[in-house]
Amino acid sequence: DKGGWSSFMAKEVSEEPEAIANTVRGRIRDGLVSIPELDGLDELFAGINRIIVVACGTAAYAGMVGKYAIEQWARVPADVELAHEFRYRDPVIGADTLVVSISQSGETMDTLMAVKYARERGAKTLSICNTQGATIPRESDAIVYTHAGPEVAVASTKAFVAQITALYLLALHISHVRGTLSDTEVRQQVLELEAVPDKIARVLEDEQAHIEQFARWMGDTQSVLFLGRHVGYPIALEGALKLKEISYIHAEGFAAGELKHGPIALIEPGQPVFVIVPSPRHSPLLHSKVVSNIQEIRARGARIIAVAEEGDAAVLPYADEVLRIPLADPLFEPLLAVVPLHIFAMGLATAKGLDVDQPRNLAKSVTVE
Ligand code: M6R
Repeated sequence: DKGGWSSFMAKEVSEEPEAIANTVRGRIRDGLVSIPELDGLDELFAGINRIIVVACGTAAYAGMVGKYAIEQWARVPADVELAHEFRYRDPVIGADTLVVSISQSGETMDTLMAVKYARERGAKTLSICNTQGATIPRESDAIVYTHAGPEVAVASTKAFVAQITALYLLALHISHVRGTLSDTEVRQQVLELEAVPDKIARVLEDEQAHIEQFARWMGDTQSVLFLGRHVGYPIALEGALKLKEISYIHAEGFAAGELKHGPIALIEPGQPVFVIVPSPRHSPLLHSKVVSNIQEIRARGARIIAVAEEGDAAVLPYADEVLRIPLADPLFEPLLAVVPLHIFAMGLATAKGLDVDQPRNLAKSVTVE
């Protein structure tokens, strides 16, 4: 039931705030992270010296965001690998490796096979999944469910923000078990996380109509590029994937620092480029690097669409369009910055008269390798 929305995707984007709130609910005690499903499983985290996240598509981008939190808070080396690449390359894994799989459906064959492979090699496995009782969690040593609710549209939206949320809870849990963050530090991050749903609701209220109008205006665009740095990089990849998937437009996401290593050759007058701009307050150095990337491509005629923090005036002279997100600590920015990109992809596909819920050639869950 679309509940009065024009599509499941529109409904699911509107549910991003509650997908996060519901994933956090019941997992905080005295301001600290306490995940009931992981009770008694401390041993799962004690002996590990490495985490490998395996997933596909959007879930893999959630994993890439999670890597920053796992390393920053829990100080465990973390890598993200596309599930379908993982088991074909003889990876070095064993009892000291925790393989974290992420899957909305819990049925993605590539991810399932990666989990089975990891178990056969003696690794510990933990599954982040949105579907109760699905196959992947049943094959794993531990499960942390995302509580995004059923996701029907082929393009994953609310499950993505819920996956990042679950990874952050997991990272804070591991930080606590391993003592890499103090209770005060964990509490601070929990407060930041709990503030995110209201901030997303503000993006939806303040920016949705503006972004949809802008997307309509971009209706005949042939190609869109997305740039991001640090946690903004996986968000650039996600923005590009969503656009390809539902609007059939060529789109690429790049790490902003890669520009002069190749992609800048693509910039010609009129080329639209979304840039995820880091916070000038929290990350002044990264912010200045990204602003100079913007200047470089603007000088070559790119049309800049900046996704920037409220009050960031440095982008104004160079941006053709600014999509505002509320202030947040750097690790929480991706949860906000992705929302305008989801709205944009949906708006553009709608402007082209396409079925946003059922894009051509794609299935909601990919149960074949
Ligand atoms: O069900 P899963 O999370 O395992 O699915 C993984 C990908 O197939 C999925 O995220 C896909 O990339 C989406 N259609 C992206 O919107």
